[in-house]
Amino acid sequence: MFEILRRDGMARLGRFTTTSGRTVETPALLPVINPKIKTVTPRELYDEFGFGAMITNSYIIKNTPALKEQAQREGLHQMLDYPGVIMTDSGTFQSHMYGTVEVTNQEMVEFQKSIGTDIGTVLDIFTEPFWSEEKTKWAVDETLKRTQEACGLKGDMMINGVVQGSVYPALRENCARRMAEMDIDVQPIGGVVPLMEQYRYSDLVDVIMSAKKGLNPSRPVHLFGAGHPMILAFATLMGCDFFDSASYAKFAKDGRMMFIDGTFKISDMQSLDCDCPACRGMTLAGLRKMDQEQRVKLIARHNLYQITHELKLVKRYLQEGRLWELAELRCRAHPALLDALRKLRDYQDFMEQYDPLSRDGAIFYTGIESRGRPVFSRYAGRIMTRYQAPTPKAALFYDRGGKPYSRAFVQEFANARRGGYTPVVISPFGPVPAELDEVYPIAQSLFPTIEDSDTMKESEDLSLEFLKEAFGEVVNGAELPDFKDGELPNSDLQRAEAVSRYQFGEDATRALFRGRIDLVVSRKTGKIRNVISDGEHVLSMRAGDGLYTLRMEGARRIIASVPAPAMRVAVMDDAVPFVSQGRNVFCQFVTSADGSLVPKDEVVVVDKNDRPLATGQMLLVKDEIAAMKKGIAVKVRSGAGEEAE
Ligand code: GUN
Ligand code: ZN
Repeated sequence: MFEILRRDGMARLGRFTTTSGRTVETPALLPVINPKIKTVTPRELYDEFGFGAMITNSYIIKNTPALKEQAQREGLHQMLDYPGVIMTDSGTFQSHMYGTVEVTNQEMVEFQKSIGTDIGTVLDIFTEPFWSEEKTKWAVDETLKRTQEACGLKGDMMINGVVQGSVYPALRENCARRMAEMDIDVQPIGGVVPLMEQYRYSDLVDVIMSAKKGLNPSRPVHLFGAGHPMILAFATLMGCDFFDSASYAKFAKDGRMMFIDGTFKISDMQSLDCDCPACRGMTLAGLRKMDQEQRVKLIARHNLYQITHELKLVKRYLQEGRLWELAELRCRAHPALLDALRKLRDYQDFMEQYDPLSRDGAIFYTGIESRGRPVFSRYAGRIMTRYQAPTPKAALFYDRGGKPYSRAFVQEFANARRGGYTPVVISPFGPVPAELDEVYPIAQSLFPTIEDSDTMKESEDLSLEFLKEAFGEVVNGAELPDFKDGELPNSDLQRAEAVSRYQFGEDATRALFRGRIDLVVSRKTGKIRNVISDGEHVLSMRAGDGLYTLRMEGARRIIASVPAPAMRVAVMDDAVPFVSQGRNVFCQFVTSADGSLVPKDEVVVVDKNDRPLATGQMLLVKDEIAAMKKGIAVKVRSGAGEEAE
């Protein structure tokens, strides 16, 4: 069972509970334990490093008589002295390394069951990157057949259904889609180790994203064989929840130390500048002089500390809604990773369905690659389709750092408005009509002050397209004469309506801004607080992100005038009394939802007859709600029943 607690980009901070009742927080990395070697003991992994889950190889255990006997007699957890979640692999990786393996899928699934593993793995076929499409297709079909077979055999054991398909996106997506229909519990993406070894990170992006398109969002995704700290932030951002690392021990044997910016051999290093608990007090010369066994142990522990440190950082950034920033930072450690970041832009539209509408922190623009973030395409899309200019003439101003723009250009904007012009600022985001300058992400973003030509070019292209579409005439704001005698329009009202169109679209805005409009404005900040339409409080504007929260009166109007399913989540009868009292909406009670809503979108919760019950904020999107067995779908703010009391 998988619950999503926080999200950012496609990343999920989640909680995974096994059938056996063990729990692990995601994103999680599972260190690989070779049951014959144990460079670091499972007990140490659990107690000292805090790894709540690990992975070992059932194929090796099965082929080592003493281990096989012990594992079947006392169970894997006791044999390894490990109380956390144990996942086992099936021998597929051995077939990738050494050719075929002499076991069947059925044998491997039943063996894994017999040793009490929490999560077993199908004997999938490792699709190599150099394989033809035809051979890959055969391997995918065979893997799917074996996965289906494993589902029938698994009993209480959870099972990994591995997505294969080599570097063919259509095969990956199809494999994922068919796997999504099967009774598997965790969805690894397999066959990617050679891509990572060859630094083919941009191919890795295609592989992950095409798999993500087909996979069931209610199950964790495991990126099989990925465990280098340098990729954790980026892969988490793409929606991978589990990772595993055998490299921490393998690299240690060759005297290779993992760092956040790469892997370095102690024979090449100039100094040991690491302060992790394993290295503290140690010098490079001292490390080189150590006996082999001790050194391997120390480096393995160092490598594990690098992993745990980065994983903690990934979780913190995810919690703070800043994972894009961390991933962009990490992708600058190697040109191949930068390629991957650039490649991710191909999936901007797909990611937009999952990326939250707003977040607490500011956006840090770290270069042209930041434009691949969904917030940029969302902003561009919405101003192109939802914006309506209050006047047919635009006056252009140029971002000079101060924000929000209406405070940086008080006199200039007022003068333009008196002349019948709508102020538009050309910013690194592209065009920003003055009415939208406080909306997330415009005011909540930081750009370098020294411009770069790529950013200017993209901003210009979007500005030209927008201005042509929205205005009949465009002038340079700096060249306007003084319109002393012109009448100043109500710019607060223009803003109030523009933000509503941006957030909810035209139909809802017409319903919300009906009749006489009064705005409650903060005396301290001058910002709009409440929108009162014909005496009804329909909207409140949040100071933090400049977007609205929907009030019950506003919700009723939207339901009355915007056809279903827009802006709605419908719940079954059982949930009606709870939701109308202001309790949250859980996934299992939802019968339908508007598929265009994204996390943090305002939503109206309705009953089966489309009667409004409550307003709230989306935490999950439609597909996730449909797939999840547990968890909050909508965070309810106020219920209709509460108001009546
Ligand atoms: N370990 C690394 N890659 C793979 C894979 O594709 N399948 C399995 N079963 N294990 C792996
Ligand atoms: Zn160290």
